[in-house]
Parts: sequence; structure tokens; C-alpha cells
Amino acid sequence: MDKTNRRDFAKSTAGALALSSAPLIVTRGALAANDALQHAVIGVGGQGSNHVKRFSQAGADCRVMAVCDVDPERREAAAALTPEPGAVKKVGDYRRILDDPGVHSVSIATPDHWHAKIAIEALMAGKHVYVEKPCCHNIAEGELLVKAAKRYGRCVQHGTQSRSGDGIIKAIAMMRDGLIGTVRAAKAINHQLRELIGKVEPEPAPGGVNYDLWLGPAPEHPFTRNRWRYNWHWFWDYGTGDAGNDGIHQIDVARWGLGVTTPRAAHGCGAQLYYDDDHQTPDTQTVVFDFETRHLIYEMRLWTDYPLEGHDNGNVFYGDEGELEIGRKGCVVTRIGEEPRKLGGGSNLDAHVRNFIDCALADDPGGLNAPIEEGFLSASLSHFANINTRVGRSLFIERDGEGIRFRDDDEANKLLTREYRSGYELPQLG
Ligand SMILES: NC(=O)c1ccc[n+]([C@@H]2O[C@H](COP(=O)([O-])OP(=O)(O)OC[C@H]3O[C@@H](n4cnc5c(N)ncnc54)[C@H](O)[C@@H]3O)[C@@H](O)[C@H]2O)c1
Repeated sequence: MDKTNRRDFAKSTAGALALSSAPLIVTRGALAANDALQHAVIGVGGQGSNHVKRFSQAGADCRVMAVCDVDPERREAAAALTPEPGAVKKVGDYRRILDDPGVHSVSIATPDHWHAKIAIEALMAGKHVYVEKPCCHNIAEGELLVKAAKRYGRCVQHGTQSRSGDGIIKAIAMMRDGLIGTVRAAKAINHQLRELIGKVEPEPAPGGVNYDLWLGPAPEHPFTRNRWRYNWHWFWDYGTGDAGNDGIHQIDVARWGLGVTTPRAAHGCGAQLYYDDDHQTPDTQTVVFDFETRHLIYEMRLWTDYPLEGHDNGNVFYGDEGELEIGRKGCVVTRIGEEPRKLGGGSNLDAHVRNFIDCALADDPGGLNAPIEEGFLSASLSHFANINTRVGRSLFIERDGEGIRFRDDDEANKLLTREYRSGYELPQLG
């Protein structure tokens, strides 16, 4: 898609919600010094339930006042995780959460194809936002989300909780101070066994579930169990494969440690070497991101749980005086000629939630450990890896006034955005 077409496409798909002058409901004044943060969790499946628990246990200055899901079974289960299940609002339509002036902040833990749309609308309604990774289902909506965060001045924390892991923060600071010499390359390793999901036939959606609202911006498709709880990750209409699922955590740490932003090129390949089922996304990906002075290598193998190189999911930074490993079990440095030395622990979801609450209460986006600008840069790399796999060739990445584009590649440029189902377009910022 050329530049003009992309602009026109964005205009024609941007929708009914021209809310540029929408009133902000929460203001610094409204959230007085002694007020607790009234939080709502939107999408209360696996990770959303985790949010309900963590925000409920974070301290007296935060209260989960509402849970929202299109699936009534999950709403009930999530409410039961709070200290006062009877007092929690159980909501089926997220727009009712955004309309509620009593809600100060929201978590978004829906499938990926909803993240940016709900996040932008929440910002327009004056809420602080904790959005799960990846913050966007495509590059264009991520760019819009970053703009919205700036425009509305609210906190937007990205769900990449390694950024709040004390051990990782210290290890990266030490690496920057020369712990392993000059660092020119890092690996982001996503190595695990993903079970096969088989091939299943369409069936009616479970009773009470609002399947139309589950589909949202995605095209209509009959309900199947494989496109439902968790396995939606493996369908391009809703998910971003494992590069955007688990891989983004390691990609984020690698990018952070290397101190890089947007690569000039992404070379690599991806394939299904193992899956023979309903999966659309790859089980094997190897992508090298060229940052001119640094290389970031994403390696994904989803067909064995044997922890090669000592890692299941983790990072290795290569310096000219040694290497630093950052894994789920913590951080280990090996300087040339010395024994490996443990430096500290791994990621920390509780600290990430706490950091968000503190910033939301203080109305201070500047204090976030994973601000959306950083989150989007990391999400972009997952998208580049997937686009590289889908078009089957290297991508040469450029930025202009319109945002990110791929040089001389119409097919890849089409994947920078999507077609939004009528009634579920992105809002316009004006
Ligand atoms: N940060 C982390 O470590 C981490 C870990 C796991 C998952 N996640 C992220 O959390 C998100 C959710 O993943 P999951 O594994 O919990 O998936 P899931 O399928 O278990 O849960 C998603 C929930 O969202 C609900 N939902 C769908 N559309 C909705 C809508 N319009 N409004 C309200 N609810 C809606 C579904 O009914 C479901 O209950 C994903 O984006 C995933 O990448 C992050």
C-alpha cells in the first residue's frame, strides 16, 4: 500500500468515535490525596484473573471495583477472586466500564486484537491504562495509542514486567557500566513446548457469551474451541503468534539492554516445522534485527521443552569481555576466564502493578517502568518478525511523518494495519 493509500485507508476505517474533545472524567483534583485508586479489569481470563488478584492484594490504596468479560462464567470467577465479591461490579460490555466516572484506571487483558482500541478509548474517557503485551495487534494502531497517551496525558503501563524486576534493572545497569565490555549483540530466546491443538469444527458459542463483542474488530468467523480461550493466540485475526505472546518479553529485555529503538532491517525466516493442526502462526522463527551498531537475534522454537543453552525463555548479551544471561531464574554473568556469577532475580509482576498504581495515584506517567512508548517499540519488533515470516523476505524499515513503513514492499506495508469490522473501528484523535 503506498503512502497516500495508507492515509486514505486510515481515514476510511477510523470510525464513528470522533472523540477528540471528549471530556476527561478523572482529573488530578478528582483523585484526591487520600483516595484509593478504583480499578477495573477488562478481559478476566488467564492473565486478567492474575490482574484481579495482584491489584486486589496491592495495598489499601487500590481497590478492584469492577471486572469485565464477554463470558459470564469468567466474570463470576474473577469477582470471586476479590476480597468482597458481592461488592464488585460484573460487567459484560467494556464501554460501560469506560462510561463509569467512578473508575480511575483499567487493566486490559483481552485477546491482542482488542488491546489498542480499548486502551485509546479508555484514555479518551480519562482513565489510566495498564495494557497487556503486545499493546497493539498491528503497527498503525500502536502508533495511534502512543499518540493518544501523549494527547490525554494519562499513565499507560505496558505488560512487560521484566522492566520492574530489580535483578534485571541492576544487571542491565551493570552491563551499561562495562560489566562484559562492549556489547554488540543479544539473543532473545523463546524456547518451549507448545502442545498441538488439533483440528476442530465450528459449533455454537457457549450460552451467555457475547461472541460478537469477542470478535470486535476481527472479521466474522464461526465460533470454534480453538479460536477461543488462550488458543486465539495462534490465529492472525486475533493473536500475534508466540513472538507477540512470550517472545515479546525477551525481545523487550534485549532491546532495553542494547539501548536500541527501531531497526533499519529485519532479516529472517519463520515456518511451521512441527504444527500440523489449526495453528496459523509459526512454531519456528529466527529473525535478526539490524540496528546498525547492534544486532538483536530472536530465536523461537516451540517444539521442545529441553532448555538449550541453559534457557527456556531468556536472553544472552554478548560483550567482548564476557556474556550476561537473563532468564526466568535470574541473571548470571560470565566474564572471560572467570566462573559464572549470579547477580539477581528475574521479572516481577507485583512490582510492575505497584509501579502502575503509584504513578496513577500521582498522575505521573513519567514514573512508569514500562511506558507505552517503550512498550510499542518492543511490540513493533514482534510485528516485524511476524511480517517477515508472512511475506517471506527481509524488511527494510523507514520512518516518515506518517510513521513506520517498509521500503518498496506493498505486501508488507498492507500488514501495518488491518481492516476493522464495521462498528469496531479505531477512534479518531482528531
Ligand atoms: N504479561 C504477561 O506475562 C502475560 C501473561 C499471560 C497473558 N498475557 C496477555 O494477556 C492477554 C490475555 O491473555 P490470556 O492468556 O489471559 O487469554 P484468555 O483467552 O485466557 O483471556 C482473555 C479474556 O478476554 C475476554 N474477552 C475477549 N474479548 C473481550 C472484550 N471485548 N471485552 C471483555 N473481555 C473480552 C475473553 O472472554 C477471555 O476471558 C493477552 O494479550 C496476553 O498476551 C500477558
